Amino acid sequence: KHDVLTTIVVFGASGDLAKKKTYPALFHLFQQGLLPKRTRIIGYARTQMSREQFTGRVTSFFKKDDPQSDIDSFLAICEYVSGKYDVAEDFKQLRSEIDANEKAMKKQEGDERVHIYYLALPPSVFVSVGTQIKENVYDGSCTNRVVIEKPFGHDLESSRELSVKIGALFAEDEIYRIDHYLGKEMVKNILALRFANVFYETVWNRYYISNVQITFKEPFGTEGRGGYFDEFGIIRDVMQNHLLQVLSIVAMNQPKSLRSEDIRDCKTQVLQRILPIQLEDTLLGQYGRSRDGSKPGYKDDDTVPGESTTPTFAQCVLHVDNNRWRGVPWVLKAGKALDEAKMTIRIQFKDMPNALFPSLARNELVIQVSPKESVYIKTIVKEPGLSTNLAMSELDLSYHRRYQDLKIPDAYATLILDVLNGDHSNFVRSDELDEAWRIFTPLLHQIDKEQVVPLAYEYGSRGPKGVDEFAAERAGYMRTAREYHWQPKSAT
Ligand code: BG6
Repeated sequence: KHDVLTTIVVFGASGDLAKKKTYPALFHLFQQGLLPKRTRIIGYARTQMSREQFTGRVTSFFKKDDPQSDIDSFLAICEYVSGKYDVAEDFKQLRSEIDANEKAMKKQEGDERVHIYYLALPPSVFVSVGTQIKENVYDGSCTNRVVIEKPFGHDLESSRELSVKIGALFAEDEIYRIDHYLGKEMVKNILALRFANVFYETVWNRYYISNVQITFKEPFGTEGRGGYFDEFGIIRDVMQNHLLQVLSIVAMNQPKSLRSEDIRDCKTQVLQRILPIQLEDTLLGQYGRSRDGSKPGYKDDDTVPGESTTPTFAQCVLHVDNNRWRGVPWVLKAGKALDEAKMTIRIQFKDMPNALFPSLARNELVIQVSPKESVYIKTIVKEPGLSTNLAMSELDLSYHRRYQDLKIPDAYATLILDVLNGDHSNFVRSDELDEAWRIFTPLLHQIDKEQVVPLAYEYGSRGPKGVDEFAAERAGYMRTAREYHWQPKSAT
């Protein structure tokens, strides 16, 4: 697709997302030679900025060792247009800019052309910008793709409202809803692991698997984002989207093909079989100060109301009611201000039946999404040497040891490349989104309405008291003896 005449408009170009993610990802693709030869990137935002201010801003998150010559060549295809989000004239001006650019890129009759509108914007202006694009910028004679970012509403009703409004402007196959977890290396790897290896699929069911845990831990609090976060809470912020998306890929049946609609059909079918989560199956927490007092509690953040009951930690048990999974608990756990940065998918197998050996621990397949990408299977071996005792070990595929000089691209680079290729596989379809909200909305409404008070936990701890007991009692999770601790192997 290297000869497609491509225009990428980044709305919200002066904002945080554009600076931290969108532009670094575009630059990465440019450096790798993955942007089509004729590409222009137009930043659009309200702020008036000089060329220097603009380039300074969008390059501020580039890597220190990126060669200046690469940066200069990249900036040569970037420009900035300032305009309001609801003024037709400004959008008409943008359209002229796009046309002028295409001319400058030697547009010819019959050229395949694509316009990508990347909305790195708060949801309050989504619809207004979408409407302006449709009325004043949209070019029906080329392919149009609109990229949008969460939050997609705050419950089922508001999400549907937004879907209807956006759906009135753009066709579903023009819309790319980003969930950046779908662009992560190890999340993209799940399909290959499951469906390209003979031995996983045979045990991937309720006969062999006892429980599955999908865990997201961050070692920092809301730091500065308290205002945004307090309206959403951890369930809306990461669980209803990132964790549930991961769940759907781990739980789905094999798709008919690798075509995006086949994949998204299978993910949606799994979500349809998940019952709404009950409050009784949920443990909520909110962090307070760290034990030594050096780190602030959630409510010490000036942007958070003093009486806030917003959870910063949640652990939920879900059930997928189909033949493959009936009876297998799925534990989603997510928290801020915990003891470490980690995202894992932990599949715990059942006990060995009629064991010849005394039971030592259960097998687990762990996919570590971050930080150090790895897949390992906790495996029991004979203690090496003269001993005949058993020992806990692992079959270990630590990516940074297995693949020397490995550079895993940021999720955004992968996803933008998918948009350039018109591949929807790693984007959320509107019916998937609808199901995701259906599963969480009754719980969220109950929490909001009853002002359920979350359990306190210390900043930097493993979460509120009872976390491990919850997983053990509610999901039958058996924790391996504490002496066993898997360490990712680094490159030697
Ligand atoms: C975002 C959430 O979607 O994901 C943040 O809004 C969270 O609260 C972030 O920190 C985590 O993403 P990553 O890629 O750093 O794991």
